[in-house]
Amino acid sequence: MLKIENLVVEVAGHQILKDVNLEIKKGETFVLFGPNGSGKTTLLMSIMGFPKYKITQGKIFYQGKNITRLPLDERARLGLGIMFQRPPTIHGVTLKQLIGIYANDLDVQQLGKALNLLSFFDRDINADFSGGEIKRSEILQLFAQKPNIVLLDEPASGVDIENICLIGKVISQLLQHTNAVKEKTRSGLIITHTGYILDYVKADKGCVMINGKIVCHGEPHSLLRGIHKTGYQECIKCLK
Ligand SMILES: Nc1ncnc2c1ncn2[C@@H]1O[C@H](COP(=O)(O)OP(=O)(O)OP(=O)(O)O)[C@@H](O)[C@H]1O
Ligand SMILES: [Mg+2]
Repeated sequence: MLKIENLVVEVAGHQILKDVNLEIKKGETFVLFGPNGSGKTTLLMSIMGFPKYKITQGKIFYQGKNITRLPLDERARLGLGIMFQRPPTIHGVTLKQLIGIYANDLDVQQLGKALNLLSFFDRDINADFSGGEIKRSEILQLFAQKPNIVLLDEPASGVDIENICLIGKVISQLLQHTNAVKEKTRSGLIITHTGYILDYVKADKGCVMINGKIVCHGEPHSLLRGIHKTGYQECIKCLK
């Protein structure tokens, strides 16, 4: 589904990603761990194609197609979708208008109900939403888009326990982790610090990013246990 080869990315003249390699197969869900400032968001934004993230070396392939130089909107049309760590507020467009672009009226209502967002439909996107409400709004938009590759940047940060459960179940449904789906066609790349979301979303593989490089691969829960126990210092030592 997604293959990243020797990716080097600069932001405002600073090299942030240094030789990133990653392959995510169809139906596979990856978790990306890493300390603050290690480059996780930069990786997701570069995969999505935001122009601020300048790819100076390397390639990104999506379903076998080289998308390294493809504009963001074309990547979205091809089936890449992102849930931002810090999404913008969009004045002049209501939440209902935005999700109505993708979904029919019935689905829009069902989605709004599932995520307790019906009363937010006529508000401008993310305008004065609380932190947790923004996360639900983002998941709602992504669920309406139903991308083939779902990039989730801290989907549960700042979300209360009940809503983590709600968001987790919706993500799990989006990633086709329910028993009803025999062959998964969607893939996921999820950034999480706490790992709470992994109680609801079944992740297949995990990796750790340190200082702009993916340095370690492993089973997601075991990586998380290691990070909880010894912090990222041990990852850095292990590299040495
Ligand atoms: N315009 C810029 N100028 C200089 N450095 C920048 C710029 N934009 C981003 N960076 C730096 O790039 C690094 C990686 O940022 P990124 O947001 O990808 O980290 P992250 O791993 O997602 O961290 P977090 O866990 O805190 O979300 C950070 O050190 C950040 O300060
Ligand atoms: Mg980040």
